[in-house]
Amino acid sequence: MKLIGSKKVKTAVFISGNGSNLKSLIEFSRKKNSPILINLIISNNLKSRGLKFAKIFKIRKKIFNFKDKFLTEKKILLELKRNKIKLICLAGFMKILSKNFIKKFRGKILNIHPSLLPKFKGLNTHMRAIKNNEKYSGCTVHFVNSKLDSGKIILQKKVKISKNETSHSLAKKILIQEHKLYPQAILKIFNL
Ligand code: GRF
Repeated sequence: MKLIGSKKVKTAVFISGNGSNLKSLIEFSRKKNSPILINLIISNNLKSRGLKFAKIFKIRKKIFNFKDKFLTEKKILLELKRNKIKLICLAGFMKILSKNFIKKFRGKILNIHPSLLPKFKGLNTHMRAIKNNEKYSGCTVHFVNSKLDSGKIILQKKVKISKNETSHSLAKKILIQEHKLYPQAILKIFNL
């Protein structure tokens, strides 16, 4: 992606849950060297704990229930347009966007996934990695395409699975790395 002049790229973050990646992205975006500015938070879940960061950091938030996916995506696209959003970061967003939506933002949607893709796409990654006796797991930031967790990989970080690891302890270790990896991946796509 390209920066035009010194203007930061308007970015929306989509969340469903705790929003710890959202927080780290907001903090990153407020640094001088960041190419992005987060000015919209979208959630499918009114109860997302991450929504509190909208208030804390004074960022516009919008909640959409996905009862009618087609209509909801239409509304989201309008909202993105209104806010001149040019980049979308999915961060623990639990809905699958349609092909049509992704097409409209081709190459402009990123996601973070808590495994070393292409291993363990989808849910329950930590449990599956442990059960599979993997020595390492980790996290991946990738572009979003129409196949789940299958778009081009931007960056990955390995994390060692220790003896007696539980999915809870592994999730915790990986999350710490996620908070560093997502900003690094964004710098990378802007060639910074
Ligand atoms: C992260 O592990 C992310 O990789 C996955 O969902 C989790 C979201 O955590 N997609 P948070 O909401 O950012 O704290």
